[in-house]
Amino acid sequence: MDTSKKVVGIVGSYRKNGFIDTAIAQILASAEHQGAETQKIYLQDQHIEFCTNCRACMQEPGTQRGKCVLEDDMDGVLQTIESADSLVIGAPVNCGNVNALTRRFLERCACYGYWPWDTPAPKMRNPTIRKKAVLVLSSAAPALMARWLTGALGALKNLAKMLGAKPIGVLWIGLANSQEAELSDKDKKQAQQLGQKLAVA
Ligand SMILES: Cc1cc2nc3c(=O)[nH]c(=O)nc-3n(C[C@H](O)[C@H](O)[C@H](O)COP(=O)(O)O)c2cc1C
Repeated sequence: MDTSKKVVGIVGSYRKNGFIDTAIAQILASAEHQGAETQKIYLQDQHIEFCTNCRACMQEPGTQRGKCVLEDDMDGVLQTIESADSLVIGAPVNCGNVNALTRRFLERCACYGYWPWDTPAPKMRNPTIRKKAVLVLSSAAPALMARWLTGALGALKNLAKMLGAKPIGVLWIGLANSQEAELSDKDKKQAQQLGQKLAVA
């Protein structure tokens, strides 16, 4: 019986080989080293439309995600994510929160909620948390400062919850200002440890 874990990385950054991509690659490499199967999804390579707030996906009750009327790559992306045991979710901080690419994806995860019109707030369709997640963020500001002063961590926690995952670690790359994304030794070590944790989680 194959007991290896499947770890899926979601890259919300615009820059391939940028800080987020590099950190996620290192976390996945570490998980692979421990025997995990890994897959990386670049949100920028997927055709993902903006949510139009039609709420069709939120009207019918049930534990399975609702069906979106938009025809794009979102269903395939979510199927890949649902097939994972663990997730690595990464986004840069732009203008005080996660960047727009990640936000657009987050809004499309509304299908995991049940929210009939004329009711005050959505409910999670399936509140059972089955997966583990590592959250990866990067900012030009120092990590500690950005962590407290921006809404980015809250947004990624929200996204993890919608995808049925509980965060078990956060890697925040501060002072991410250079064109070449070279992680510090400390960040590399943390990436390695987090990858190991996901592979056995
Ligand atoms: C439009 C824009 C807005 C940004 N806003 C912020 C910000 O509010 N706070 C911050 O610390 N860094 C900000 N940054 C810097 C990015 O966070 C940084 O370039 C990014 O984390 C690098 O990640 P990447 O290599 O994956 O692209 C901004 C960058 C851009 C392009």
